[in-house]
Amino acid sequence: MKLVLASDHGGYELKEEIKKHLTEKGYEFEDIGTHSTESVDYPEYGRAAAEIVASGKADKGILCCGTGIGISLAANKVKGIRCANVSDTFSAKMSRAHNNANMLSLGGRVVGVGLALEIVDAWLETEFEGGRHQRRVDKIE
Ligand code: RB5
Repeated sequence: MKLVLASDHGGYELKEEIKKHLTEKGYEFEDIGTHSTESVDYPEYGRAAAEIVASGKADKGILCCGTGIGISLAANKVKGIRCANVSDTFSAKMSRAHNNANMLSLGGRVVGVGLALEIVDAWLETEFEGGRHQRRVDKIE
């Protein structure tokens, strides 16, 4: 599985922690920035990462901004993207099992690193259940 990661300045530090974690776990990923805590505009990063997932160049994406909200709103404007902004492991699992979310967004100013990494693991390890959920996802599309 290939992942794409992106953040703004508000999510930069959390993105760096997620990168370390994914490296330890052996995941392949591309980090498209931002690469510092200097202020940037989250829509540019959310859209760029979403386009990589929508094009099939990455299987899934993980986004971080201050709240996880703005960058997920931007990503969800790209056709084919279902980005879930979550702050708990139950929602992370459900976003995969029921919604087939192909992007996850997290708030660097909302969740601590420990919880964020648990959310990432739960999200990456949960499969879409299909069936009636596929019909509903089709209706979103
Ligand atoms: C940046 O200050 C902040 O607005 C951004 O990271 C994010 O929280 C927006 O939703």
